[in-house]
Amino acid sequence: MIATADFKITKAKTSKLSTLDVNNIPFGKYFTDHMFEANYENGEWGTGEIKPYQPITIDPSCAAIHYGQSIFEGIKAYKNQEGEAYIFRPEDNFKRFNISAERMEMPQVPEEVFMEGMKQLIKIDENWIPNQPDHSLYIRPFMFATDEVIGVKPGQKYKFMIILSPTGPYYSAPMRIYVEEKYVRAAPGGVGYTKNAGNYGASMHPTAEAKRKGYDQVLWTDAFEHKYVQECGTMNVVFIIGDKAITPPLGDTILAGVTRDSVIQLIKDRGMEVEERPLGIDEIIDAYKKGELNELFGTGTAATISMIKELRYQDFVMTFDTEKWKIAPEIARTMNAIKEGKIEDKYGWMVKV
Ligand code: COI
Repeated sequence: MIATADFKITKAKTSKLSTLDVNNIPFGKYFTDHMFEANYENGEWGTGEIKPYQPITIDPSCAAIHYGQSIFEGIKAYKNQEGEAYIFRPEDNFKRFNISAERMEMPQVPEEVFMEGMKQLIKIDENWIPNQPDHSLYIRPFMFATDEVIGVKPGQKYKFMIILSPTGPYYSAPMRIYVEEKYVRAAPGGVGYTKNAGNYGASMHPTAEAKRKGYDQVLWTDAFEHKYVQECGTMNVVFIIGDKAITPPLGDTILAGVTRDSVIQLIKDRGMEVEERPLGIDEIIDAYKKGELNELFGTGTAATISMIKELRYQDFVMTFDTEKWKIAPEIARTMNAIKEGKIEDKYGWMVKV
């Protein structure tokens, strides 16, 4: 059977929406009334299905649990001023999803399944898109191997799903970041550029150690010298040094963030030079000591634009008064205004549901 957007749709008998406290929506805690599911078997995708949100049954031998063929994406939907639902740059996430799939030897998900599945699902649950500032509907597409077999080999069967979660900010206050030198997130030739579940699993222990020291996240450094900064694992990073914005270059150790790309565009459009190049911790410290490290922030779908108020490298602590910053808040305001349809979307980023 060829995958089509002719999905089987079963609506939930009742909605959980009235139980949602719109003034308190932590990231990733609540899920909408419906979910999307499509299964891959015998080399082809079966008919996609939208059905009431519910647990799924998997066999204890489910291949993804044992050997990690599991990938995901993070996307957000918003309502514009007329109350219409729009998704932020979903095509970019669709492409990145299939790049992850290729590296993990998983099947490609057809565009009509990914994009139409997402749009039709959001249409059904569009009342769940929050209206408050800094809130959105987080979209989580994911795929994992479902073979019932214990053996280190690529799966023959996969499940692709999309779930939706109304959400407030991921990081609500400026962050404290610890520069990691012992553990490694990604090495050349590895899977750092993919959104595979294992990248996040491997970050849990180093991040927990940083949290025990009082930090919110680690800033990963390169695998060889622990000299060049990479990303935070939940977000890419941008440094404003002097009159330039500097961010580590993409490659196989850094996730190609859609928010990173959008922020680069917005910074360039406000007339500031952006350099995508290796950035050493010594250069960062030097700039800080000279008073030239003006701003430092993370970018990500969940994280949006998250200001960093403290950066610690070994025993050297760099602190910042984020209240005085101009660029990060301005870029965040512009990005929000585009997402909420308050200003023209001249980049064509918003896709109507
Ligand atoms: C996202 O930004 O969508 C991610 O997947 C990162 C994670 C921190 C939620």
